[in-house]
Amino acid sequence: MKQFLSIAAQRLLPPIAWNGIQRMRGLPSVSPWREFGHMATCANASPILAGEFATLYEKYQPLDPHVRKETWRYRLYNVAAFARICRDVPGDFVCAGVSWGVAPRIVFDYVDFSALAKTLHLIDPFEGTVANDSDAVSAAYNRDPGYVLCQYPAGAPVKLHRERVPLRVDSPLAFVFTDTGNPEADAAAIPIFYETLSPGGVIITEQYGNNIHHYKHLGDLGIMPIWLPSGQGVIFKPSA
Ligand SMILES: C[S@@+](CC[C@H](N)C(=O)[O-])C[C@H]1O[C@@H](n2cnc3c(N)ncnc32)[C@H](O)[C@@H]1O
Repeated sequence: MKQFLSIAAQRLLPPIAWNGIQRMRGLPSVSPWREFGHMATCANASPILAGEFATLYEKYQPLDPHVRKETWRYRLYNVAAFARICRDVPGDFVCAGVSWGVAPRIVFDYVDFSALAKTLHLIDPFEGTVANDSDAVSAAYNRDPGYVLCQYPAGAPVKLHRERVPLRVDSPLAFVFTDTGNPEADAAAIPIFYETLSPGGVIITEQYGNNIHHYKHLGDLGIMPIWLPSGQGVIFKPSA
């Protein structure tokens, strides 16, 4: 109850007034309450609101004409940040579930992908698919791979796979992002990607938090994702 009242008061009061109360209570000041899709915070969010990532987010988020602007900010920050950690890990990068291509396009610039001897594999049938076992489609998904490919500089090391996951990419992998909108397919794809993931590599899977039941089999394989407040799951492959 006390915590509920505290959150309610914080949301109603301007930060300057709330921080006065915090000072009187001997507690640290807080930043304005912010919501990013599934994640909300009163921590200082400046690392995702300004600077290099924020510049790329402003530039590429509008590629998707459907999603509300702030919904993806924290989620795509995680994707970009983990991708950057994998910059020097041997192997290629994979994005499974591409649609308008926002996430891979941000990753490409954020890790300075052109400077690496790697390929960015983009996997998507571009049919608006929402499930592997039905003909149902989403009008919110992009069906034109040309829309995605023309976002990259000429000669960029980007390879399109017009296929569905689960799928085996025949090369060692450093970083994988699964975001097909079909958590069953994402979860089924993970063990296959993990097999060729290099030590030190990372898999981030978008819809883990609200679909943990689809990911249960990963526990038997010892690769259960770490939960993030965005609902994303992260799997690290330990270094040998
Ligand atoms: C949520 S959108 C992806 C958004 C994308 N990550 C971005 O950054 O803009 C989901 C995409 O996954 C694709 N998709 C659906 N099922 C798939 C599957 N089994 N394998 C690969 N892609 C799939 C759909 O065609 C759709 O374009």
